[in-house]
Amino acid sequence: MAGCAAVVAVVLAAAVAGARAEGLVGVNWGTMATRRLPPKVMARLLKDNGFNKVKIFDADETTMMGLAGTGIETMIAVPNDMLAAVAADYRRAKDWVKMNVTKYDFHGGVNIKFVAIGNEPFLTAYNGTYDNVTVPALKNIQRALDEAGHGSAIKATVPVNADVYDSPASNPVPSAGKFRDDVAATITDMVGFLNHSGAPFSVNIYPFLSLYGNDDFPIDYAFFDGAPPKPVIDKGINYTNVFDANFDTLVSALDKIGFGTLPVIIGEVGWPTDGDKHATVPYAERFYAGLLKRLAARQGTPLRPHTHIEVYLFGLMDEDAKSVAPGNFERHWGIFTFDGRPKFPLDLRGNGRPVMPAGARGVQYLPRQWCVLNPNATNTTKIADNVAYACSRADCTPLGYACSCGALDAAKNASYAFNAYYQAQGQVPAACDFQGLAFITHKDVSQPPCNFSVQITETHATAVTTNTTAAADSSAPDATTTRVTVAMMMALLFVLVLT
Ligand SMILES: *[C@@H]1O[C@H](CO)[C@@H](O)[C@H](O)[C@H]1NC(C)=O
Ligand SMILES: *[C@@H]1O[C@H](CO)[C@@H](O)[C@H](O)[C@H]1NC(C)=O
Ligand SMILES: *[C@@H]1O[C@H](CO)[C@@H](O)[C@H](O)[C@H]1NC(C)=O
Ligand SMILES: *[C@@H]1O[C@H](CO)[C@@H](O)[C@H](O)[C@H]1NC(C)=O
Ligand SMILES: *[C@@H]1O[C@H](CO)[C@@H](O)[C@H](O)[C@H]1NC(C)=O
Ligand SMILES: *[C@@H]1O[C@H](CO)[C@@H](O)[C@H](O)[C@H]1NC(C)=O
Ligand SMILES: *[C@@H]1O[C@H](CO)[C@@H](O)[C@H](O)[C@H]1NC(C)=O
Ligand SMILES: *[C@@H]1O[C@H](CO)[C@@H](O)[C@H](O)[C@H]1NC(C)=O
Ligand SMILES: *[C@@H]1O[C@H](CO)[C@@H](O)[C@H](O)[C@H]1NC(C)=O
Ligand SMILES: *[C@@H]1O[C@H](CO)[C@@H](O)[C@H](O)[C@H]1NC(C)=O
Repeated sequence: MAGCAAVVAVVLAAAVAGARAEGLVGVNWGTMATRRLPPKVMARLLKDNGFNKVKIFDADETTMMGLAGTGIETMIAVPNDMLAAVAADYRRAKDWVKMNVTKYDFHGGVNIKFVAIGNEPFLTAYNGTYDNVTVPALKNIQRALDEAGHGSAIKATVPVNADVYDSPASNPVPSAGKFRDDVAATITDMVGFLNHSGAPFSVNIYPFLSLYGNDDFPIDYAFFDGAPPKPVIDKGINYTNVFDANFDTLVSALDKIGFGTLPVIIGEVGWPTDGDKHATVPYAERFYAGLLKRLAARQGTPLRPHTHIEVYLFGLMDEDAKSVAPGNFERHWGIFTFDGRPKFPLDLRGNGRPVMPAGARGVQYLPRQWCVLNPNATNTTKIADNVAYACSRADCTPLGYACSCGALDAAKNASYAFNAYYQAQGQVPAACDFQGLAFITHKDVSQPPCNFSVQITETHATAVTTNTTAAADSSAPDATTTRVTVAMMMALLFVLVLT
């Protein structure tokens, strides 16, 4: 018997080791930054921290070459603006698969597992623009994958926002979940196809947004360790966090259309660290600690207990060129800073020991110099005009109320803005003039927690404009604005129940 137990133990150990090798979570790698680290540096950052799943928002060749040879399971994407073309013409879908999937299918290529069809295409903010093309695009891409021989290994799915389902205001509990009326038929068609092809349902869930701008939301309900004053009681289940409530609302909605057991993956979940009073490192650390602990324990949710949930954290790095229409927090979702420094300890391997993640290696910086306001400057109108100019072209979100640089005096505030612009422009001397108001200094004037950054050196052919009105990836301005509104509505429902 003892021998037998030993064998069992070995098998169990192997199973656990296998689970570890699989990686606990994946991560979203967005690239809307003024300057980007080289893809190979990024790929090594992923490997060093045990991520072996990554989700990107396109199929950019530079990014793909970075991932090549790493074995990291990758979700690539057909952007929303290509859905109509891919839906209308099967040859277009075939070309897409040939150039973005088959091309990387070689020894040392990219380990593609999923193709995302659009990004949150059913968002209410899109006014139905993609409602009629998303599912035909899904079907065409999966067919093209099948015909090219990738079908058993690579599945197409549609990452949706949690705004495609809700519970009625009259009965705001997870078990009353249903798909939104205007997309219910489309989603039923989609889900039938996903079930047939063996693909999961993919949803983005953001407890932070429940809290954002909603002071009545019981804050403990956004995390996993709190004891909210009152749980939401639903058919004998006590819901104590909005993540479970949201996920189970989806499970109920799927159940109502006959697919209650369809696998669900979470395409995005995370917590930002700057740009709002609730976007702080301590809150982010608390959120991730709770999330990763329950994922490691395969806790599941009340309606799907004891299950492994595949999750992609949002996101890998801060992206200083994203639109701030949703809120100033939008540029601060990274678990790493823009230059690949970890922000707080995380248990990314699920072994019960949160540790500071490994930072990016081999990062090259511009010289250690900063652009600051000349203390002799006195014309406040002129200073304000120049600060406004700098902030319209660089990231000043840390200057907001209750943000990391929100406590600076007026002069340091102006210096922060000037420096942000100067760094974003790659420290060209002309970017530190501001009508004679500024000068370059070699003295670091950072005042913790406010960091006057020094930018990284540019890598080839990856520059994006600092133009903040340029198209966004994961979060077109209107898209995330609605995401916020919807999360707030969902939050309000719970407020109704809880108060
Ligand atoms: C490959 O994917 C990218 C991004 O999704 C897209 O811009 C490009 O047009 C695709 N190539 C083809 C041949 O469809
Ligand atoms: C959706 O409709 C609203 C109101 O009519 C409009 O303001 C918005 O620009 C539209 N959005 C898109 C993506 O068409
Ligand atoms: C989608 O199809 C429906 C029904 O055929 C139609 O009423 C609607 O206008 C279409 N939407 C778009 C954006 O083409
Ligand atoms: C889902 O797919 C499975 C496996 O192909 C099939 O047995 C089942 O009937 C499908 N479910 C529905 C509701 O179509
Ligand atoms: C659920 O919450 C109610 C009210 O707070 C409490 O009476 C009940 O014991 C809780 N049930 C469980 C299973 O925790
Ligand atoms: C400030 O003004 C004084 C007097 O005009 C001048 O000597 C000094 O160089 C100025 N400082 C800077 C940093 O320009
Ligand atoms: C201050 O700057 C503004 C804008 O540049 C300018 O119009 C104004 O004349 C200046 N005032 C003084 C006193 O120099
Ligand atoms: C700092 O600059 C920001 C951005 O221009 C502005 O909104 C804020 O009021 C300024 N704060 C102070 C103290 O000057
Ligand atoms: C500030 O950012 C620079 C990189 O731009 C980094 O080297 C430095 O450690 C940071 N300082 C703090 C206090 O975070
Ligand atoms: C910024 O982008 C918008 C929209 O793409 C464009 O119209 C505008 O000319 C750009 N501005 C600059 C300074 O590049």
